[in-house]
Amino acid sequence: MIHFLDIHAVTDSHAEEIEAAALKVVRSGWYLRGKATQEFEQAYATFIGTSHCVGCANGLDALALILKGYLQLKVMEPGDEIIVPANTFIASVLSITNCGLKPVFVEPDEKTQQIDETLIEQAITPHTRAIMIVHLYGRCAYTEAIGKLCKQYNLKLIEDNAQAHGCRYMNESSPLHGKRTGSLGDAAGHSFYPGKNLGALGDAGAVTTNDKNLADTVRAIGNYGMEPKYYCHTQGVNSRIDEIQAAILSVKLKYIDEENERRRQIAEIYHRNLPKGICRMNFDGTKRQDNVFHIFPVFCKKRDELQKFLAAKGIETQIHYPVPPHKQQCFPQFHHLSLPITERLAQTELSLPISPVITENEALFIAEAINDFQWND
Ligand SMILES: Cc1ncc(COP(=O)(O)O)c(C=O)c1O
Repeated sequence: MIHFLDIHAVTDSHAEEIEAAALKVVRSGWYLRGKATQEFEQAYATFIGTSHCVGCANGLDALALILKGYLQLKVMEPGDEIIVPANTFIASVLSITNCGLKPVFVEPDEKTQQIDETLIEQAITPHTRAIMIVHLYGRCAYTEAIGKLCKQYNLKLIEDNAQAHGCRYMNESSPLHGKRTGSLGDAAGHSFYPGKNLGALGDAGAVTTNDKNLADTVRAIGNYGMEPKYYCHTQGVNSRIDEIQAAILSVKLKYIDEENERRRQIAEIYHRNLPKGICRMNFDGTKRQDNVFHIFPVFCKKRDELQKFLAAKGIETQIHYPVPPHKQQCFPQFHHLSLPITERLAQTELSLPISPVITENEALFIAEAINDFQWND
């Protein structure tokens, strides 16, 4: 059986260090807002390339804390609009709606599955305050055009970097060339959900930014809005990273570039061996680092049949995501929207196993199995 993601094996590859780090916290008697958190926040800010990192409880909170921070700082007010790709995971959208803001969905480019830069300007209104880009599947979504639109219309650029730890923007003609996602805009939300490239052993998240005012505001809001202790200028929430997760993440952070490169090697095998008709990955050598392959998607009209066919061969796959946010039951107010590219992607996407613990032989076996399937009938 080839698991979609063998988290047990991923943890096992650093077991000794992880266990020692967790034990150290257990024995320290200090479990929140302590040294392990400070060390991780510093290390992660350095890794991403921002001056501030604020740990929080999860990736959804990270995005919501950024928006709550901007509301508190009067950069936004309730009812304002945030542009977001239509084909994202529900959490990107929930972060917006949970803050009393309005998501405005923009279709992705079908080839890259990232927000289509050419469709953004027509979605901007006098109420637009930010563009939230999502580096979906681990691929950099930033483009020069998006950066320019933010400047031109005075919009905040928020990155949802839940799926792309370590990814870089690769464009030699840009001053941002080589910078990591999470440092390209005004603020970024990161998730360390266990299945992510940089995964904790439970829930955890972080906000990165170069804006000290926003970082201080986010930190206070995540701690009941208190600053200093027991003095509340704003109604906050309880959203903090715990010391054990921070200590574990500091261990795993040391290996993330290596593990992402391992994912790229597997992706390259898929790219070379999969039928071109279902594999839309661009594997440009000079841009290699613009994708950390959190997910390796293929697209097939007979997706459900393909998934069953692979399951019968012992290959576990997943779908990211079967129902786009605007079609979810929780959002009847968006059901009237027609977003055909997003809807087509949701009907045809299938995610193949990819992780630092998949072997080359397993990837070849999976590619061979797909070649045996009558995918283009
Ligand atoms: C694109 C995206 N945004 C946000 C999140 C939310 O992160 P979390 O599960 O840590 O709340 C996730 C992952 O779950 C995600 O994939």
